[in-house]
Amino acid sequence: MSEKIYIPPIKIQGIKTKLVPFIKQNVILNSDTVWIEPFMGSGVVGFNTAPNKAVFADINPCIIDFYNAVKSKTITSNIVKEFLECEGKKLSEKDDEYYYEVRERFNKNKNPLDFLFLNRSCFNGMIRFNKKNCFNVPYGHKPQRFAKAYITKITNQVRYIEEQLMYKDWTFQCQPFQKTLENADKDSFIYCDPPYIGRHVDYYDNWEECDELLLKEHLLSSDTKFMLSTWDHNQYRTNEYIDHIWSFCHKINIEHFYHVGAKEANRNPMTEALLTNYSLPTHKKITNDSPTNEQISFFSTDLAINL
Ligand SMILES: C[S@@+](CC[C@H](N)C(=O)[O-])C[C@H]1O[C@@H](n2cnc3c(N)ncnc32)[C@H](O)[C@@H]1O
Repeated sequence: MSEKIYIPPIKIQGIKTKLVPFIKQNVILNSDTVWIEPFMGSGVVGFNTAPNKAVFADINPCIIDFYNAVKSKTITSNIVKEFLECEGKKLSEKDDEYYYEVRERFNKNKNPLDFLFLNRSCFNGMIRFNKKNCFNVPYGHKPQRFAKAYITKITNQVRYIEEQLMYKDWTFQCQPFQKTLENADKDSFIYCDPPYIGRHVDYYDNWEECDELLLKEHLLSSDTKFMLSTWDHNQYRTNEYIDHIWSFCHKINIEHFYHVGAKEANRNPMTEALLTNYSLPTHKKITNDSPTNEQISFFSTDLAINL
């Protein structure tokens, strides 16, 4: 039977939901380990790994403000339910006009509840901010977007976090990864899922070779076990940074489907890599002369992702 995966209330492009079982099988945690996730995004990996202690961090304050509001009980699952019922009604009456009204309001006030509303009604559950730091994802047209069942689903997703926070020591910090990694020591485990190099030009998602090199430097000096998610190859390209920057790591691959847009033709397979500085049950050390097709690769149709 397949493992039940908890889906968080805030979505993001590149969310690792379908890779969670695979990642969980390969992390090294005990009850005292501090989970450090410097690029939390939706938080789906750490929330499902469910460590007793965790530092979830991201450079995007909207994500962190939302979870800190849940932690401080400024936002509760009941508040979310009432808010989405009320705002969802207005959306069903005024449709995209209302979506853009909330978007404008959010860009002035950055209210975490508005962020949730936008994130769950925008195109493809994306998070994207333009150069002026304004959320600019268009409306994801869908009749009865906030139907009763959808609100219940989101409310339950928030409730899960509320419950975890009752007995787990989790903190949420808005900061660049360098700052987050300063707290790591031998009792921590670091899971990193940075943006893909050169793929985005978003306010919070700008990632260049210098960032990848800086990440490597900080991971090496942390003296901590770490796992890094990245892309390995698709039918057109191979991630050359794996050999250039991460050649000291162990690697396992898994095929993953990314879905961009509405068409089936846009469902492109991408082989993802998990890189670690410890040896994995099934692994092959990367060497510059090892051809990609010799690397161990898993394929499971269960893990085909349709974002
Ligand atoms: C690929 S997403 C993480 C997805 C996440 N693993 C998930 O499954 O939802 C990358 C995240 O890194 C954050 N980020 C980008 N640059 C950063 C930086 N310099 N320091 C910290 N976080 C950063 C982005 O805001 C984004 O949320």
